[in-house]
Amino acid sequence: MKKISRFKENSYNTTNDFDYLDQLEKYYNSSLGTNVEKLQNFSKYVPRQDLTNFIAKYELFKKILEVPGSIIECGVLFGGGLMTFAQLSAIFEHTNFIRKIIGFDTFTGFPKLSKIDKLSKSPQAKKGSFAIDSYSDLMKSISLYNSNRFLNHIDKVELIKGNAEKTIPKYVKNNPQTIISLLYLDFVLYKPTKIALEYFIPLMPKGSIIAFNLLDDAHWPSVSKALHDVIGVSDLKLQKFNFSPYTQYVIL
Ligand SMILES: C[S@@+](CC[C@H](N)C(=O)[O-])C[C@H]1O[C@@H](n2cnc3c(N)ncnc32)[C@H](O)[C@@H]1O
Repeated sequence: MKKISRFKENSYNTTNDFDYLDQLEKYYNSSLGTNVEKLQNFSKYVPRQDLTNFIAKYELFKKILEVPGSIIECGVLFGGGLMTFAQLSAIFEHTNFIRKIIGFDTFTGFPKLSKIDKLSKSPQAKKGSFAIDSYSDLMKSISLYNSNRFLNHIDKVELIKGNAEKTIPKYVKNNPQTIISLLYLDFVLYKPTKIALEYFIPLMPKGSIIAFNLLDDAHWPSVSKALHDVIGVSDLKLQKFNFSPYTQYVIL
């Protein structure tokens, strides 16, 4: 059995899960149609779990549609999540040229792990994990996306490359106009998550949302720990969607 998906490896997965991904790869390659036709029929191929994540992002987006401010994704990886928010903005608020979709990533994977990160139960918890240099690929994706949206002479999606422990303070200093409607935290490491919370929360109005992937999960204890250390949970109304075990959020 070939392990098709490099980032799905954790103790929750069974052999069946990997078999399914193997079969899916084969099916996609041999399936009817051009690549574009396959994409236009994406529900034939996309794993249920990834559709679930997509729907969770749609549900989050609907909640901030009338809240001004940028959407920030902390931890971009291949960019599917970032571009989901970009597409939703283009579909549901095509004249809202003010809202930016901003992604922070090293684009070289995890820089280093803190003591708390090392308590992780994930095989991915090591320096250099998630090292996907998607920057130039994503720039092409953004350019194509721009060619198919309204008001495309005004930039919408921004990628901030580098260690977020440095790029977040720098971004906030250089962009004093910033207000944030949705902060999607998916660095899964302690220090950058803590810095994101410390620097971005003061820029978030009432009604804006902080969303987490992997809160309360022993694979990534740092996500909860950063939240405990910066704002604590006792006064937060943390919520989740009944269809997804992962995405948790708080409406400020
Ligand atoms: C779990 S992945 C993100 C998954 C992505 N949000 C998705 O939906 O597919 C974690 C990402 O955080 C990035 N990352 C972790 N620590 C970082 C740091 N200190 N600065 C910038 N990026 C970081 C990694 O490079 C990696 O791409």
